[in-house]
Formats: sequence, structure tokens, C-alpha cells
Amino acid sequence: MRIKDFKLERFFAEHEFSVKYVLGASDCEGIMQRDLFSMADKDSLALWNNLKLGYTESQGHPVLREEISELYQGIEAKDVMVLAPQEGIFVVINSLLDKKDHVIVTFPAYQSLYEVAETIGCEVTKWMPDPFNNWELDVDFLRRNIKSNTKLLVINFPHNPTGYLPTKEKFLEIIEIAKEHVLYVFSDEMYRFLEYEKTDRLPSACEIYDKSVVLFGMSKTFSLPGLRIGWLITKEKELFKKFSSFKDYTTICSSAPSEILSIMALRTKNRIIDINLKIIKNNLNLFESFVSKNNELLSFIKPRAGSIAFPSLNKKVDSSNFCLNLIKEKSVMLLPSEVYDYKGNNFRIGFGRTNFSEAINKLEEFINEKQF
Ligand SMILES: Cc1ncc(COP(=O)(O)O)c(C=O)c1O
Repeated sequence: MRIKDFKLERFFAEHEFSVKYVLGASDCEGIMQRDLFSMADKDSLALWNNLKLGYTESQGHPVLREEISELYQGIEAKDVMVLAPQEGIFVVINSLLDKKDHVIVTFPAYQSLYEVAETIGCEVTKWMPDPFNNWELDVDFLRRNIKSNTKLLVINFPHNPTGYLPTKEKFLEIIEIAKEHVLYVFSDEMYRFLEYEKTDRLPSACEIYDKSVVLFGMSKTFSLPGLRIGWLITKEKELFKKFSSFKDYTTICSSAPSEILSIMALRTKNRIIDINLKIIKNNLNLFESFVSKNNELLSFIKPRAGSIAFPSLNKKVDSSNFCLNLIKEKSVMLLPSEVYDYKGNNFRIGFGRTNFSEAINKLEEFINEKQF
């Protein structure tokens, strides 16, 4: 299989560990191991102390799958497969799709959500949001673009990179359309539980539609991307079997220590989520005032969930040059819209890090020095 470069990940690989401020990150501030252990309950500490570092169960540690199933209504441990989040995307798309299939994907998107399908040879329709209307998606576009060979709808809410979260009504309408046309739905829910108002939280697709596959994991909401633990959920038994067979060619099973650390974190999830929401809301407020001070250069649709947004720059300033010069001159990394193959003049900014205000000060210095 030959696949195109993953532009966003290549950009991260080049800059993430050499800059001082990763202002475009989508994860929340990473947890220190000592802090996770200090929050851990007795049972998970016992699991840790008695951990044998052999191969693990391919589907995932039974206790971890139990913890994961409790995040959902009507889901059991047997419906959960533990794997790395990125691996989950690769497994689902490869297991589900053939060359002849048509796929509709919300766009811009985390590249693997459409690139794997394009590499297989599928026809991919990109479902674009409206940048002049709060990044809204037009449900009629979805209706109009479903064809006889449409097999899969890929959605991602809260959305990377815009932070868009549809209303519950709109989300249910989208799922109803998939049901009417018997489409599979692959719902990437990596930023779930980061809704700023709890009442805005959507049901998980796996709670309301049996032909859905859900992706979630420890990387964003739970501050533990270094564990490389995520999961897929589906109630479709045949699909589940296909995922298991495919996974034998990717990782076979997950990392034993990471599974136990994930159990620890999920057992203290509300504390972690509260800390992260506090950081995000605080940083969002800072950024709102920053944008209003610099409104000739910047505009911004405030998200209702998640740890990122996709502000746009005044047309005279090219976002790729802006981001590259910012890295060079101030050691601050934002992600230009070019890494998403998005035609607008935007950049991705992240609100989950504790050094956000320092990074914004550097950004301000840069803007003032350049006199944009
Ligand atoms: C929407 C989305 N899906 C999947 C992933 C993959 O997660 P991970 O990097 O933990 O494998 C990411 C990571 O940025 C993401 O933003």
C-alpha cells in the first residue's frame, strides 16, 4: 500500500519537539505519571504492581473494556476493542471499504479519516462546513450526495480542526439519514466530554445506531496521548470480527502498562475532565480578548466543545508563511490550514495547554513587530 504523507503529522514531527510553545496542540496538558499515581485507586495500583509484561489480550484488558463500556449507555465490554486511536481509523476503513465504495467525510478533517479510503481507491465526497455561519454543516448536502454505492459516512464531533459541535437535533437528523440509506457511520469522538456546557453533549453514535463504529481514546480528553490507547465500539458482530483479524497485522495487542494506566485514569475521569475544561475555558477567554484586540488581522468562531479552534487570518497574510515565521522567530507553533489541504487562510490553535498565556504573549510580540 502506498499512502500520501500525513501533512499534519509531518508538520508535528518537524517542529513539535524543537519549539518552546506548541500552541496548535489538540491534546490537553499531559498528566505527569506521579500525579496519575497519586490519584489512583487501590485496585488499579494492585493491577499495576502485579502486572506481567507479556502479550495482552488482543481485544484489550477485560477490566479496561469494562471501564470503557461504562462511558456509554447500552454498551458492554464485549462491544469494545482497545487499540491506538490512529490505528483504529486504519483498521475501520480497511475492514469496511472496497474500491467500488463511495464515502462521505466531514471536511476539513484529520487526514487519515479520508486518506485511507482514497488510497484504497474509493470515491470520497468532502462535506464542507460554512465558515460564514459558525462552521455549520448543510444536512441537505448530505442527502443530495448519497448514491447507490455510498457505504460509509465519516463524522467527527467535536470537530478537528474547527471545534464545531452540531446541535442534538442536527446530529439525530444526520444519523436518521444514515439509517434511511442503511449507511455505516464511523463517528470519531476523540474530543467527547469536552463540551463547555454538559447539556450540549451529543449521544455517542453507538448508543443510537447499531450500524455505527465509534472511535474514542485517552489522547485528548484524558490528557494521556503518550499511552497510545484508544478504542473502537460497534455492536455489529461481523464487523467486530473483521476488525480483530485486521488488527493482527497492525499491533496484535496493546501495551500492557498503558492499559493499566488507562484504567487508573478512567477511574478518576471526572477530576481529569474538570481540570482540562477549566484550562480550556480560561485560555478561550484569553484568546477572545486577544482576537478582539487584533480584529483587523484575525477572526474566530468560538467553539462549544473541544480543545481547538480554526481562526482565520486577514487575506493579505498567508497562513503558511505566518506559521513558519512564528516558529522561526518566536518558537511558537500553530498549524497552517495547508496541512489540512483546506483552501481558507486559517490556522489551528489549541486551548488545552497551561503555558497558553505565555505563548499568546509571544504571538502578540510577533504581530506587533511585523505590523500586520
Ligand atoms: C479527530 C482525530 N482522530 C484521531 C486522532 C488520532 O489520535 P492519536 O494521535 O491519539 O492516535 C486525532 C489526533 O489528533 C484526531 O484529532
